[in-house]
Amino acid sequence: MRAPAGPGSIRHPAMAPDPMSLTLPNPLFARKSIASLTAEAEPGTHSFKRTLGPLSLVGLGIGAIIGAGIFSLTGTAAAHDAGPAITISFIIAAIGCGFAGLCYSELSGMIPVAGSAYTYAYASLGELVAWIIGWELTLEYAVGAATVSVSWSTYVAKLLAGWGLALPQWLTSSPFDAHPGLVNFPAVAIIVLASLLLIRGISESAKVNGAIVALKVLVVCIVIGVGAFYVHPGNWQPFVPPNTGNFGDFGWSGVLRGAGTVFFAYIGFDAVSTAAQETKNPGRDMPIGMMGSLAICTVLYIGFSLVLTGLLPYTALGSAAPVADAIGQTPFPVLRSVVNLGAILGLTSVILVMLLGQSRVFYSMARDGLLPHQFSDVHPVYRTPWKCNMIFMVFTGVLGGLLPIKELGEITSMGTLLAFVIVCIGVMVLRRTDPHHARAFRTPLVPYVPIAGIVVCGAMMLGLPRLTWELLFVWLAIGLVIYATYSRSHSHLRRASA
Ligand code: ALA
Repeated sequence: MRAPAGPGSIRHPAMAPDPMSLTLPNPLFARKSIASLTAEAEPGTHSFKRTLGPLSLVGLGIGAIIGAGIFSLTGTAAAHDAGPAITISFIIAAIGCGFAGLCYSELSGMIPVAGSAYTYAYASLGELVAWIIGWELTLEYAVGAATVSVSWSTYVAKLLAGWGLALPQWLTSSPFDAHPGLVNFPAVAIIVLASLLLIRGISESAKVNGAIVALKVLVVCIVIGVGAFYVHPGNWQPFVPPNTGNFGDFGWSGVLRGAGTVFFAYIGFDAVSTAAQETKNPGRDMPIGMMGSLAICTVLYIGFSLVLTGLLPYTALGSAAPVADAIGQTPFPVLRSVVNLGAILGLTSVILVMLLGQSRVFYSMARDGLLPHQFSDVHPVYRTPWKCNMIFMVFTGVLGGLLPIKELGEITSMGTLLAFVIVCIGVMVLRRTDPHHARAFRTPLVPYVPIAGIVVCGAMMLGLPRLTWELLFVWLAIGLVIYATYSRSHSHLRRASA
């Protein structure tokens, strides 16, 4: 069903052409004016309820951030890449995210509508780049949710096995795993549940998310607080284990590779920006939501990684459940179950926020005519883009059910880093093209901060494997074909200029 008139209707440029929308003669590079973007989000013309405040947004951010990265990847990266210096890797990745976060904050305050980096690219870099970034964001949100669903499945299978309810391997593994199965059923199940919850509505989802976030932060704090008393400082020696002779195998190059790996642990703070259109005061609350959740998680990650590498020698952290193994070193074995439960809850909220972000990006793209209207149809009662949620429930469920976590995780990082780089470029472009537009938050030291974001995030992209680059280009090629055959001719901006 199409969105009803009134609150469900969207004021498209096609319906009310804005002469300021077309700032360049070629529609491929035409930008939507910030004024027209903001007008679309004014009360009475948007489809979502403005219910979220700064605390909800910080919760949304932490809900998206703490997950598979900290519960699964920290130990692996310490064991294989950086040793105890994985803590430094966390700091490097946080610096890259911090630069990008400062840029995100400026744009999300300036352009407080749903759509995240996609919308910012439409206002700063034009339709073609906007399409590319919106398309690539699917890698971050939908493929990211699939990645985390696979990790969720591992923890649930472990918990059930502990209760004597072991699931058969054919029902918990991808056909492409080292030990292949038929389908990863728990991964599919959590995607379906999260999608149905999102269809029910953002306000209800935010409440569930808030409860889960509080619990998982508590679990992380317990691990840090209790574990700190049982660390063996000898395990931190040498803090940066010597390089083995190969790039990325310990030493400082290992610290860099580790940063690329644990970058996954920070993905999600930008998902806050996708809820701008549901935020009461986006200009003030967006920077608080993004930078606040990023800062809190950075502090937790530094403490967590120090405790983890202090409890066990880094060589022993390469297991499937490094956090549970490490906490098993304390005289409180019950904490193992607490960690498992915390991981499951933590991963659940990550999936929830990522699927939320995905539906909001495609909602915006459909609203602009670049995708079929089904992606922006709003449920008459719940007022959520329910068809979009359903479509991504199927897409993400298939990925989570059939593909291995490693490949899913790497392509997620690649798509996210590309989005970060484009956002940094967007800030510099808008400072030139719209210098006088009100900015509730200004990125400091422009252009140095955006350039630093581009350099650090670009370096992390270069560190990712060749296969990931190839997948990125294949996905990009599919996107460009869709743009050329559908989106270009259906674009409201393009039609308005015809
Ligand atoms: N940052 C999220 C996680 O670690 C994606 O699961």
